[in-house]
Amino acid sequence: MKNAIALTDDIYWIGVNDFETDLFESIWPLPEGVSYNAYLIRDQKNVILDTVKKGYMPQLLEKIQSVVPATESIDYLVINHMEPDHSGSINALRRLYPDMQIVCNSRTVEFLRGYYGIDSGMRVIGDGEQLELGTHTLEFHLTPMVHWPETMMTFETRTGTLFSMDAFGGFGALRGGIFDDEVDLDERENETLRYYANIVAKYSPMVQRALKKLSALDIRAIAPTHGTVFRTDPGYIIDRYDRWSRQQTEPGVVIAYASMYGHTQTMAEAVARSLAVQGIKQIRLHNLSRSHLSYVLRDVWRYQGLILASSAYNTKPSPFMESLLSILDNDKLKNRLIGIIGTYSWSGGGVSAMREFAEKSDNELLEPVVESKFAPDHEDLEACHRLGGALASRLL
Ligand SMILES: [Fe+2]
Ligand SMILES: [Fe+2]
Repeated sequence: MKNAIALTDDIYWIGVNDFETDLFESIWPLPEGVSYNAYLIRDQKNVILDTVKKGYMPQLLEKIQSVVPATESIDYLVINHMEPDHSGSINALRRLYPDMQIVCNSRTVEFLRGYYGIDSGMRVIGDGEQLELGTHTLEFHLTPMVHWPETMMTFETRTGTLFSMDAFGGFGALRGGIFDDEVDLDERENETLRYYANIVAKYSPMVQRALKKLSALDIRAIAPTHGTVFRTDPGYIIDRYDRWSRQQTEPGVVIAYASMYGHTQTMAEAVARSLAVQGIKQIRLHNLSRSHLSYVLRDVWRYQGLILASSAYNTKPSPFMESLLSILDNDKLKNRLIGIIGTYSWSGGGVSAMREFAEKSDNELLEPVVESKFAPDHEDLEACHRLGGALASRLL
């Protein structure tokens, strides 16, 4: 995808695919790559909306030059979000178009100075303010903490296009299909939800606030900074972001277990078997020593049931379980049915920490909590079956 791709007559996708970065934010795996979507509007005033990660300027420039002749310039660069995956090419773009004005909100100013030493050439806009381009009008909507404090969305009023930065975005590079009517949305949902669960989940209340704020707009297309562009059915992704940010779940269970010598695993499998016998088909069994947390979080964000299972390790749970609990606590996970099982051999510390997490959260802790000394005996495994039955009966 060498050239710009038209979203409407005058609005173009000028993004790039990244197949080189292994870990997004140096944390989250990218086996299917990721796209950094930037956009261009051709009008009496030419506008670029957001840029791409540092290092992808040559590809961005090719796309810009495929639609903007050398005799013309870029008048404005709208910065919806300053995270470096989108702001990384600002300085390179400014060197090419020195008269280009940066359009941003007041919170963005310190980020521009701090990251890139930029302290001039800005046009600071306020919430709801408009900018006329000729036949298009941009309207700016501040949506703080829909990822970062300076985040905002830009609405083009004539075409009803919402440039929504990270919101409504997803992992996964664009594989030929750019638009929602060109891709298998069910297949792509896995990577979109993983992006939500990894990157946006903590800011779910702010997503809700933004959705309410945007509900008055006649949104006919959503152009996010990652993943599919929704030109046919923006309601598809609005509906999903609405459900995910409300923490509405589907019937199903994630069993996240950390086992050193297989005893906790035996208990986890006993719960899984019990769930299956009771008719639960959506069971995601994650060995935390092997499954990257990124995927565990995606599944936790989808399903209502969560079995936490860990052996004790140096008076605490497994460090993998501790990481999971820490993220779920930070994300303020709620509305889940939680079961807890685990093992210890002398002082414990695994089950007690998981119980503490569940009890201080807005989730329901199911009985029985099963803690086995040394290895699970017949009674422990019976208790695991009862826990599976209790969970299944709530989900069905
Ligand atoms: Fe971001
Ligand atoms: Fe981003």
